[in-house]
Amino acid sequence: MTDRTLYEEIGGHQVFENLVSHFYALVAIDPILRPMYPDSEMHEAAERLLMFLEQYWGGPTTYSEKRGHPRLRMRHQPFHVDLAARDAWLSCMKSAVDEIETTPELKSQLWEYLLTAADAMVNQFE
Ligand code: HEM
Repeated sequence: MTDRTLYEEIGGHQVFENLVSHFYALVAIDPILRPMYPDSEMHEAAERLLMFLEQYWGGPTTYSEKRGHPRLRMRHQPFHVDLAARDAWLSCMKSAVDEIETTPELKSQLWEYLLTAADAMVNQFE
């Protein structure tokens, strides 16, 4: 048994920073996702995702200090998140997660969460 959080187990800030920076490099060239992010906001969007994921997995709580309660479904309402957008998001995220050097258990814990969370963000079903 260990009391260590996934954040610590997986390697802390540097690992999450690499994950998010890899993810956004792919978002920046994705034909579905790219138009959702104004040029000027890419860096800030990456920072928000980084803070959120670190907090979710037991790292620093900077996200809530700066942004309040996550309310992620509500914060995604302004965007057209259909199944194609979800799949594009997951595809970028899968490549980024695959780059992490860690145990298969930690990787699948992280990935299962991201799959479920991405499903929950879909708000267009036509
Ligand atoms: C399913 C496909 C998804 C799409 C197309 C999508 C798209 C977006 C867009 C366009 C934004 C606004 C960028 C910004 O200014 O921050 C955003 C914000 C955000 N997304 Fe997603 N997202 C998706 C899934 C997810 C998932 C699964 C998570 C978490 C595990 C997540 C976490 C966040 C966070 C933390 C923010 C910033 C919220 C804030 O504090 O304002 N997103 N997303």
